[in-house]
Amino acid sequence: MKADLSGRVSLVTGAARGIGEAIADRLAANGSRVVHTDVADAARAAQKSPGGVAMTLDVTNPSQVQGIIERGVDEFGRLDILVNNAGINTLAHRVTIDEYPREAWDPILAVDFLADPENTYAHGHILTVDGGWTAGYAREF
Ligand SMILES: NC(=O)c1ccc[n+]([C@@H]2O[C@H](COP(=O)([O-])OP(=O)(O)OC[C@H]3O[C@@H](n4cnc5c(N)ncnc54)[C@H](O)[C@@H]3O)[C@@H](O)[C@H]2O)c1
Repeated sequence: MKADLSGRVSLVTGAARGIGEAIADRLAANGSRVVHTDVADAARAAQKSPGGVAMTLDVTNPSQVQGIIERGVDEFGRLDILVNNAGINTLAHRVTIDEYPREAWDPILAVDFLADPENTYAHGHILTVDGGWTAGYAREF
Protein backbone atom coordinates (compact mmCIF):
# COMPACT_ATOMS: atom_id res chain seq x y z
CA MET A 1 0.00 0.00 0.00
CA LYS A 2 1.31 3.45 -0.89
CA ALA A 3 -0.73 6.46 0.16
CA ASP A 4 0.02 9.75 1.80
CA LEU A 5 -1.59 9.39 5.21
CA SER A 6 0.48 12.04 6.93
CA GLY A 7 -1.62 14.01 9.36
CA ARG A 8 -4.20 11.23 9.48
CA VAL A 9 -5.16 9.25 12.55
CA SER A 10 -6.14 5.57 12.26
CA LEU A 11 -7.63 3.22 14.81
CA VAL A 12 -7.19 -0.52 14.30
CA THR A 13 -9.04 -3.07 16.41
CA GLY A 14 -7.37 -6.38 17.24
CA ALA A 15 -4.00 -4.76 16.54
CA ALA A 16 -1.90 -6.63 19.12
CA ARG A 17 -0.93 -9.28 16.58
CA GLY A 18 -1.67 -10.92 13.25
CA ILE A 19 -3.47 -9.14 10.44
CA GLY A 20 -4.42 -6.17 12.66
CA GLU A 21 -0.80 -5.59 13.61
CA ALA A 22 0.25 -5.85 9.95
CA ILE A 23 -2.45 -3.36 8.87
CA ALA A 24 -1.38 -0.97 11.64
CA ASP A 25 2.24 -1.27 10.47
CA ARG A 26 1.25 -0.41 6.89
CA LEU A 27 -0.86 2.56 7.96
CA ALA A 28 2.08 3.84 10.03
CA ALA A 29 4.53 3.24 7.18
CA ASN A 30 2.32 5.46 5.03
CA GLY A 31 2.46 8.27 7.56
CA SER A 32 -0.65 7.76 9.69
CA ARG A 33 -0.58 8.02 13.44
CA VAL A 34 -2.06 4.72 14.66
CA VAL A 35 -4.09 3.83 17.73
CA HIS A 36 -3.57 0.11 18.32
CA THR A 37 -6.51 -1.32 20.22
CA ASP A 38 -7.08 -4.87 21.46
CA VAL A 39 -8.46 -6.83 24.41
CA ALA A 40 -4.90 -8.09 24.70
CA ASP A 41 -1.93 -5.85 25.42
CA ALA A 42 -1.07 -4.00 22.19
CA ALA A 43 1.90 -2.08 23.62
CA ARG A 44 4.56 -4.16 21.82
CA ALA A 45 2.85 -3.64 18.47
CA ALA A 46 2.28 0.07 19.09
CA GLN A 47 5.92 0.71 20.04
CA LYS A 48 7.01 -0.03 16.48
CA SER A 49 5.16 2.87 14.90
CA PRO A 50 6.17 6.50 15.36
CA GLY A 51 3.59 8.14 17.61
CA GLY A 52 1.71 4.86 17.94
CA VAL A 53 -0.34 4.34 21.06
CA ALA A 54 -1.94 1.26 22.59
CA MET A 55 -5.39 1.28 24.15
CA THR A 56 -7.36 -1.57 25.64
CA LEU A 57 -10.64 -2.17 23.86
CA ASP A 58 -13.15 -5.00 23.81
CA VAL A 59 -15.11 -4.43 20.60
CA THR A 60 -18.15 -6.19 22.04
CA ASN A 61 -18.52 -3.45 24.65
CA PRO A 62 -20.33 -0.49 23.01
CA SER A 63 -19.52 1.95 25.82
CA GLN A 64 -15.82 1.07 25.56
CA VAL A 65 -15.99 1.57 21.79
CA GLN A 66 -17.59 4.98 22.17
CA GLY A 67 -15.14 5.92 24.94
CA ILE A 68 -12.10 4.97 22.85
CA ILE A 69 -13.36 6.92 19.85
CA GLU A 70 -14.00 9.99 22.00
CA ARG A 71 -10.59 9.59 23.67
CA GLY A 72 -8.89 9.25 20.30
CA VAL A 73 -10.57 12.37 18.95
CA ASP A 74 -9.76 14.25 22.19
CA GLU A 75 -6.10 13.22 22.21
CA PHE A 76 -5.35 13.49 18.49
CA GLY A 77 -7.95 15.99 17.33
CA ARG A 78 -9.37 13.69 14.67
CA LEU A 79 -10.05 10.12 13.65
CA ASP A 80 -9.90 9.40 9.93
CA ILE A 81 -9.67 5.66 9.53
CA LEU A 82 -11.19 2.83 11.54
CA VAL A 83 -10.21 -0.74 10.71
CA ASN A 84 -12.67 -3.24 12.15
CA ASN A 85 -10.24 -6.13 12.26
CA ALA A 86 -10.74 -7.73 15.69
CA GLY A 87 -12.08 -11.21 15.35
CA ILE A 88 -11.97 -14.69 16.69
CA ASN A 89 -9.87 -16.65 14.26
CA THR A 90 -9.72 -20.11 15.73
CA LEU A 91 -8.73 -23.54 14.56
CA ALA A 92 -10.75 -25.10 17.36
CA HIS A 93 -13.78 -27.24 16.59
CA ARG A 94 -13.00 -28.06 12.96
CA VAL A 95 -16.17 -30.11 12.67
CA THR A 96 -19.29 -29.99 10.56
CA ILE A 97 -21.79 -27.30 11.46
CA ASP A 98 -24.19 -29.75 13.11
CA GLU A 99 -21.40 -30.76 15.51
CA TYR A 100 -20.17 -27.25 16.23
CA PRO A 101 -20.61 -26.49 19.96
CA ARG A 102 -23.47 -24.05 20.59
CA GLU A 103 -21.51 -22.15 23.26
CA ALA A 104 -18.65 -21.52 20.81
CA TRP A 105 -20.96 -19.50 18.54
CA ASP A 106 -21.73 -16.76 21.05
CA PRO A 107 -18.28 -15.11 21.29
CA ILE A 108 -17.74 -15.50 17.53
CA LEU A 109 -21.06 -13.85 16.70
CA ALA A 110 -20.46 -11.10 19.27
CA VAL A 111 -17.01 -10.19 17.95
CA ASP A 112 -17.17 -11.04 14.24
CA PHE A 113 -20.79 -10.18 13.50
CA LEU A 114 -22.34 -7.73 15.96
CA ALA A 115 -19.40 -5.53 16.91
CA ASP A 116 -18.79 -4.03 13.47
CA PRO A 117 -21.98 -1.94 13.25
CA GLU A 118 -21.29 -0.74 16.79
CA ASN A 119 -17.85 0.42 15.75
CA THR A 120 -19.12 2.46 12.85
CA TYR A 121 -20.04 5.23 15.27
CA ALA A 122 -16.75 6.79 14.24
CA HIS A 123 -16.70 9.51 11.67
CA GLY A 124 -14.13 8.49 9.16
CA HIS A 125 -13.31 5.83 6.63
CA ILE A 126 -14.53 2.46 7.81
CA LEU A 127 -12.87 -0.72 6.66
CA THR A 128 -13.96 -4.09 7.92
CA VAL A 129 -11.69 -7.04 7.33
CA ASP A 130 -13.07 -9.68 9.65
CA GLY A 131 -15.39 -12.54 8.87
CA GLY A 132 -18.64 -10.79 9.75
CA TRP A 133 -21.40 -9.81 7.37
CA THR A 134 -19.72 -6.50 6.72
CA ALA A 135 -16.45 -8.17 5.67
CA GLY A 136 -14.85 -6.29 2.82
CA TYR A 137 -17.24 -3.43 3.28
CA ALA A 138 -15.73 0.00 3.14
CA ARG A 139 -17.70 3.13 3.76
CA GLU A 140 -16.82 6.77 3.58
CA PHE A 141 -18.65 9.20 5.82
N1 LIG B 1 -6.08 -15.42 9.32
C1 LIG B 1 -6.97 -15.73 8.37
O1 LIG B 1 -6.75 -16.65 7.54
C2 LIG B 1 -8.27 -14.97 8.25
C3 LIG B 1 -9.14 -15.27 7.20
C4 LIG B 1 -10.35 -14.56 7.09
C5 LIG B 1 -10.66 -13.59 8.02
N2 LIG B 1 -9.80 -13.34 9.02
C6 LIG B 1 -10.19 -12.30 9.96
O2 LIG B 1 -9.15 -11.32 10.04
C7 LIG B 1 -9.11 -10.81 11.38
C8 LIG B 1 -7.71 -10.98 11.97
O3 LIG B 1 -7.34 -12.34 11.87
P1 LIG B 1 -5.95 -12.84 12.49
O4 LIG B 1 -5.59 -14.08 11.76
O5 LIG B 1 -4.97 -11.73 12.54
O6 LIG B 1 -6.44 -13.26 13.96
P2 LIG B 1 -5.63 -13.29 15.34
O7 LIG B 1 -6.37 -14.26 16.20
O8 LIG B 1 -4.17 -13.52 15.11
O9 LIG B 1 -5.80 -11.80 15.90
C9 LIG B 1 -7.06 -11.34 16.29
C10 LIG B 1 -6.87 -10.22 17.29
O10 LIG B 1 -8.18 -9.77 17.69
C11 LIG B 1 -8.17 -9.61 19.10
N3 LIG B 1 -9.52 -9.74 19.65
C12 LIG B 1 -10.25 -10.88 19.81
N4 LIG B 1 -11.42 -10.59 20.40
C13 LIG B 1 -11.42 -9.25 20.60
C14 LIG B 1 -12.35 -8.36 21.18
N5 LIG B 1 -13.51 -8.79 21.71
N6 LIG B 1 -12.05 -7.03 21.21
C15 LIG B 1 -10.86 -6.59 20.72
N7 LIG B 1 -9.92 -7.38 20.19
C16 LIG B 1 -10.22 -8.71 20.12
C17 LIG B 1 -7.23 -10.69 19.62
O11 LIG B 1 -6.75 -10.39 20.94
C18 LIG B 1 -6.12 -10.68 18.55
O12 LIG B 1 -5.09 -9.77 18.88
C19 LIG B 1 -10.15 -11.59 12.19
O13 LIG B 1 -11.33 -10.81 12.23
C20 LIG B 1 -10.36 -12.84 11.37
O14 LIG B 1 -11.64 -13.38 11.57
C21 LIG B 1 -8.61 -13.99 9.17
